[in-house]
Amino acid sequence: MSPFRIAHVLLPCLIGVCLAGCDSPTDRFRPNGVYARVASYHVDADPQTATSDIDALLSAWFGTPDSPRLPEGFPPGLIDPKGLARAAGPVSSDKQGVRFGIYRANCVVCHGLDGGGNGPAAALQNPYPRDFRPGVFKYKSTPRGFKPTRADLAKLLRQGLPGTGMPSFARLSEEDLNAAIDYVIYLSIRGETERRLLRMAFEELGYAAEEASADPGDRLTMLESGHLADAELADEVGALVQEIATTWLNAESLEIPEPPAAFEADRAAAAERGRELFHGPLANCASCHGQNGDGGAVTLDFDDWTKEYTTRLGAGPESSEVRGLRRVGAMKPRPISPRNLSWGNFRGGSDERALYRLLVSGIAGTPMPGLLIVAPPQGDEAVVGITPDQVWDLVAYLQTMSAPGNSP
Ligand code: HEC
Ligand code: HEC
Repeated sequence: MSPFRIAHVLLPCLIGVCLAGCDSPTDRFRPNGVYARVASYHVDADPQTATSDIDALLSAWFGTPDSPRLPEGFPPGLIDPKGLARAAGPVSSDKQGVRFGIYRANCVVCHGLDGGGNGPAAALQNPYPRDFRPGVFKYKSTPRGFKPTRADLAKLLRQGLPGTGMPSFARLSEEDLNAAIDYVIYLSIRGETERRLLRMAFEELGYAAEEASADPGDRLTMLESGHLADAELADEVGALVQEIATTWLNAESLEIPEPPAAFEADRAAAAERGRELFHGPLANCASCHGQNGDGGAVTLDFDDWTKEYTTRLGAGPESSEVRGLRRVGAMKPRPISPRNLSWGNFRGGSDERALYRLLVSGIAGTPMPGLLIVAPPQGDEAVVGITPDQVWDLVAYLQTMSAPGNSP
């Protein structure tokens, strides 16, 4: 049985087990213990004080899983407070039949209460459910380093991600779906704020070991009825939340040029040119995806979520440090494989425009690179890179390589 099939058979059972026995506390968000260790790794500090101070600050600013809120000055128009309230809290409905607890009913089993991607059904999945807290998303219409648009998230929730545990939520009403989107953005901004504060704590705020006790005045604990007592620090943290929220407001879809006439006129010839590019040194797809695109090359690479607490710290995936991190919520490192392209049914979409976008942006958080796109050469000028017309040729090749019915 393929891993995908196994995941699909096992998941419903796992979800059943969880609903029967999920008794972890839901009244507060768990601090990001893994990132606290990562941020303090090189300063040799005990992350405990910083973690609990930041936890107190985040509760004051973002509320709790049952009653989330948005910090003062949060840019309007990004998250609908009504949607947030509907998605949060335990599963229930009011007299008018409005449903609450959308996130807990549909998502928490995989993505976890705090959006850490390590819910009770996460461990056996490959790929693991997304950790929303670093604010990195794979399948979207925006450039690689950007956030997805709301429309991208709506499409994702309607369609799910084929070949992964992420199911389709097409059955949810428009309002429930929008509430889930509000909540994902909320968890992601909360999580990114937490990460930035943890870094700030060790790099600037005197939480590193030698200084920790020296100047407690610098610490974030100085909360007075939900406000930071130090006005300067409060402004700094406020600006940080604003900055993260702005990255969501700035999400804009990439523009895709029209395919050239030659692509429309003769797909077979375009696919043949695409085949050469696929194997050639510039696009170099075959180096990862194998000669026939069937995922031949064996790699021992990881996605960025995993690299953060393994190779980037200089800690081997099997090391005792990494095993220790699993006690605070890290997932067991799993190598990421280049996809078998003959399966088709691509996660970011299999239509031409989605594939064009994929090739230009790559897949954020993974080794799949974006292509270096250059303007077509003028005369005999030499350029290094792939022209937009050549991207279309690769799209044509991808479509011939992946026949429907090949997928496992
Ligand atoms: C059965 C497990 C499961 C459930 C339930 C689930 N997800 Fe996911 N989700 C996944 C997996 C697995 C991935 C990662 C797929 C990948 O990396 O290719 C994912 C990825 C995502 C992503 C990131 C997509 C990207 O482009 O990076 C978002 C957003 C998301 N899920 C939202 C939700 C929401 C909202 C719900 C509830 C309405 C939900 N998920 C329910 C398993 C699940
Ligand atoms: C450095 C290795 C590497 C190179 C080079 C590379 N890829 Fe990938 N590619 C990957 C990995 C890894 C994934 C799987 C990502 C995942 O599942 O999260 C992937 C996934 C894909 C997917 C699946 C996308 C989806 O939406 O499901 C397609 C299509 C693809 N690659 C095409 C290409 C093409 C065409 C090229 C050359 C222009 C290329 N790749 C170059 C590593 C690579």
